Amino acid sequence: MRSIAVANQKGGVGKTTTSVNLAVGLARAGRRVCLVDLDPQAHATLHAGVMPGSHPLSAYDVLVGGQPLAAATVAAGENLCVLPSHIDLSAVEMALAGRSGRELILRQRLEADARCNADAGHAEPFDYMVIDCPPSLGLLSLNAMAAVDEVLLPLQPHFLALHGLSKLLETIELVSEHVNPRLRLLGVVLCMYEAGTRLATEVGRDVQSFFAASAEKKHPAWGSAQVFETRVRRNIRLAEAPSFGQSIFDYAPDSYGAADYAALAAEVDQAAAVLRDGVRRAA
Ligand SMILES: Nc1ncnc2c1ncn2[C@@H]1O[C@H](COP(=O)(O)OP(=O)(O)OP(=O)(O)O)[C@@H](O)[C@H]1O
Ligand SMILES: [Mg+2]
Repeated sequence: MRSIAVANQKGGVGKTTTSVNLAVGLARAGRRVCLVDLDPQAHATLHAGVMPGSHPLSAYDVLVGGQPLAAATVAAGENLCVLPSHIDLSAVEMALAGRSGRELILRQRLEADARCNADAGHAEPFDYMVIDCPPSLGLLSLNAMAAVDEVLLPLQPHFLALHGLSKLLETIELVSEHVNPRLRLLGVVLCMYEAGTRLATEVGRDVQSFFAASAEKKHPAWGSAQVFETRVRRNIRLAEAPSFGQSIFDYAPDSYGAADYAALAAEVDQAAAVLRDGVRRAA
C-alpha cells in the first residue's frame, strides 16, 4: 500500500481539495483507496459525501479509543473508503496528553491492522491511503507523517508560498530521522494556479529551482521531491463541489478541475511506480 499525507501547515492552500479529488481520481483509475480525514474541521469527510457524526466511530476512536481502522471506515463510492473526522478530533491533543509515543499511534494501529490481515490470510485492503492533514504541525499531522511513506505538499502560488516551507521540511526531516525513516517528500503540487499570470510563473519557477537545488544536495527525506507537472488551475467548480458532498468527478466531470485532478492522480500513480522500481533497483 502507498500511503500519502497531504500536508502544509499553511491554511487554505488546497490540502483538502487535493486529498479528496486525488483519492477519488485514484479510485476511478481502479485503485482501492482509503481517504483518512485527520482534520477536526472534517471538510474532507463532508467533501467525500459522509456526514460527520453519522457513523458511530471516527478517526478519534481510532487514535484515542484504539479501534481498528476497519471498524471506523465508511464506504464512500466504488473503490473508496473514508475514515471520517469529527469535531471531537480537536480534543485529541488533550486526550492523549501524557501518553508516551502519542505521535506513533496511527502508525502502530496500521501495523497492527496489517498483521491481523496477514494472520487471517487476507490481502491488503487498499492500494492507497491518502491522509488529509490539518493546517498545523501538531500531533495529528505528526501522527500522519509517522504513519505514511510519502508527503504531498500543495502550494498556492503566492509571493509567500515558500515561506513556511522550511518549517515543514524540517518537520519531515525530524520525523524521518527519529520515527519514520521511510518518510519522504513525494512532491509539490501547485494549486489554484492562474496560468498566464506573472506571479504564478515566477512562483512556479522559484519552487522548481528550490527543489532542483535540494536534489543536488541529495537530502534523503526531500532530495528526490518533484514539482508535479500538473498544475491545478483555479476553477470555481472545485470550490462548489464540497458543498454538494461530491468530488469534482461527480460534480463537474467536464471541468478543468476534473481534468487537472485526473492528471495529478495519474502522475502520483506513475511516481509511485517509479519509486517502487527505484527501491527495487537499489535493493
Ligand atoms: N483549484 C481551485 N480553484 C478554486 N478554488 C479552490 C481550488 N482549490 C481549492 N479551492 C477552494 O479554496 C478553499 C481552500 O481549499 P482547501 O479547503 O482545499 O484548502 P486547505 O489547505 O485544506 O484548507 P485548511 O488549511 O483550512 O484545511 C476552499 O474553499 C476550496 O474549495
Ligand atoms: Mg483542509
